[in-house]
Amino acid sequence: MPTSATAPAFARERGNEAFAFAVASGLASAPRSLPCRYLYDERGSDLFDQITRVPEYYLTRAEDEILRAHAHDIRRAAGPTTLIELGSGTSTKTRHLLDAWTSQPGAAYVAVDICREALDGAAKVLQKGFPDLELHTLAGTYEASFPRFRQFSPITVAFLGSSIGNLADPQLDAFLEMLERNLYPGDGFLLGIDLVKDAKTLEAAYDDGAGVTADFTRNLFHRMNRELETTIAADQIEHIAVWNPEEEQIEISARFPTNTEIRLPTIGQEFSIAAGEAIRTEISRKFHVESMLARLEAHGFSRQEVYTDREEQFAVLLTTKTASPCPRKKRASRQWEESRQATNELLSAVPDPLLEAQHSRLMSPLVWDLGHIANFENQWISTATATSRTADLRAQDHLFEATAHARADRLKLDLPNATEAREQLQQIREDSRRRLRAPGKNAPARLLDNGLVLEMLAQHEAQHGETMLQSIGLIDGFAWPRPLRNPSPEEHTPARGMAIIPAGAYSIGAATDGFTYDNESPRHTRELASFAIALAPVTNREFLGFVEAGGYRRPEFWSAAGNCWREKAGVETPLGWQQINGEWHTTTMGHHRRLPHHEAVIHVSYFEAAAYAKFRGKRLPTEFEWEVAASADLETGEPRIYPWGGREPHPGLADLDQSRPHPQTVGSLPEGRSFFGCEQMMGGVWEWTSSEFKPYPGFQAFPYEEYSAVHFDQGYRVLRGGSWATRGVAIRNSFRNWDLPERRQIFSGLRLAADA
Ligand code: TRP
Repeated sequence: MPTSATAPAFARERGNEAFAFAVASGLASAPRSLPCRYLYDERGSDLFDQITRVPEYYLTRAEDEILRAHAHDIRRAAGPTTLIELGSGTSTKTRHLLDAWTSQPGAAYVAVDICREALDGAAKVLQKGFPDLELHTLAGTYEASFPRFRQFSPITVAFLGSSIGNLADPQLDAFLEMLERNLYPGDGFLLGIDLVKDAKTLEAAYDDGAGVTADFTRNLFHRMNRELETTIAADQIEHIAVWNPEEEQIEISARFPTNTEIRLPTIGQEFSIAAGEAIRTEISRKFHVESMLARLEAHGFSRQEVYTDREEQFAVLLTTKTASPCPRKKRASRQWEESRQATNELLSAVPDPLLEAQHSRLMSPLVWDLGHIANFENQWISTATATSRTADLRAQDHLFEATAHARADRLKLDLPNATEAREQLQQIREDSRRRLRAPGKNAPARLLDNGLVLEMLAQHEAQHGETMLQSIGLIDGFAWPRPLRNPSPEEHTPARGMAIIPAGAYSIGAATDGFTYDNESPRHTRELASFAIALAPVTNREFLGFVEAGGYRRPEFWSAAGNCWREKAGVETPLGWQQINGEWHTTTMGHHRRLPHHEAVIHVSYFEAAAYAKFRGKRLPTEFEWEVAASADLETGEPRIYPWGGREPHPGLADLDQSRPHPQTVGSLPEGRSFFGCEQMMGGVWEWTSSEFKPYPGFQAFPYEEYSAVHFDQGYRVLRGGSWATRGVAIRNSFRNWDLPERRQIFSGLRLAADA
């Protein structure tokens, strides 16, 4: 039965809001850009169709030549698969493929496009031309449509017209990762790529003499006027297309001839564009066959056939998904090895006697953490591989018990020394690798097959990495040997102010297929009233305003419990602050320096965070508000795993992984912002929320009660987002950390919120 779906309904209802936020986010970045998918509304799709027929735009003709000559070869190589086309538009470029596909009975075709009108138009024409074709249409972004592909399996996914060239590297990798995750071994991927050639030919293709391409660019601004109530003089805008030979891409932008205010009344934001300023609307990258094949190979697609036109302007690559080891399992074992590497690095920076001593009543000696990592690994690898090594286990239990007692201050017990602890870790790791290679007959598939147990071990070890760093931070007179870093003057200035998040029903909880903790599940929907949340975390300079206004001595800002704690603990500043000759200084991780005004405030308790918020006439966000600000994406309707999307964290996106003994400057990671423009939600400092740690409706303990269940409703507050000391593998938007409201040896700060 033919189907027509628009994925998802949510995105449709929220269409204009999503468009507005996406525009705001692009205009707020430096250099400014606009999201290219909005080029393709009904009028834009029509203009693009005209572009494919202008004499300068050789791409469509070259690809057409290839497909006309080889469609039947492609169909033969691909076998009886459903043809799925991404960015199908009018489906004209698919005609030859459909000829080949329908030469056999039972052919099915799924057209996927962002533009519903274009799909409906195409469907009408196609159904006439190919009456026997089973035809489905799917309107939405690629992200939203990929997970639906499996129902059409086996499939050949076609991505033609060199549309892949419109993706910058990060999106390109995310795209291929998604493809890898959603296709089965044997499925095909057919990719059209435009090849690198001389600048003149390329520039002409993107700036035709009749001015159709220029109209296509201007239509984006007309569309804004139509849908977002902007009042841009769109006809004045100049269309520019230049070849950048280093990046091997055509760069398309819109230049404003005069100073222009872009007001987005629907979301209350505005931007001043200077005369002569160019806003990037699109890139179109050009490729080389071999490097693209290598890239595909790295994502589990191997070469089947390469076709080019006579002039070798364009290429069509046919690849198949290989039966490579499950990508998730591959990723899991990498994470598992990386976590150990990080532990070893951490240890190498601390002299042995300091690993063996207890430095604070709050923290165990570091060798205890090491014992716990080893013991935990041993137990779970035994369970997952159904290979128990009794003798080892007994030794481990002994160690575990001894170390657990050490926590209760009975330090005289036989904790391992640093050398023993290291050997233990090493020995158990080798043992684990061996057991994983030869699991027992009754090994539980649920833990082993998809890498779940390794993901869990990687995260567990990474979390100990952060606890160990807390202990290290409390060692008297020891400077953790990582260099301080002064911000460079050109660092992006932080986004100021607050984002207004619209009221609505939002998805909360774990949104990944990887291991997540029981307390992040089940994923469920919550109704939220509209609220405001700060675009950046609170800085030291801002917090200093509170200190200098006598905030620590003014009970009106503090809760009853907060006042009690403040007086008893004698706290007058965040942990580590000190005034010397009228100048504020701070000590973090043993490094003493002038108070860095532009870093996020760190080492504040929940009580201090809440008092600060009250002083500013604001409040802390609830954990749900925080999660929505980080994860909601009004365009796809799918919650994001990280504020920026689904890619694994890296240093350009988030301040994680212990790269320096303090958080990075606020504003220095604009690429990591969330859909709503909130920066540095992941990494930097953990952010206190007003929520108490409670189970989600329908909670089930996994893998064991002690992880979260025993901590619910014990007066803990939830912290979100991870810190500079958190490992990237152990954090995501849905991750919930919890601690007592008075704790501040942790890497904690805050972000303001308010009703809206
Ligand atoms: N995928 C097309 C390409 O890169 C898109 C395109 C053609 C385009 N001409 C354009 C996008 C002009 C923006 C502006 O060739």
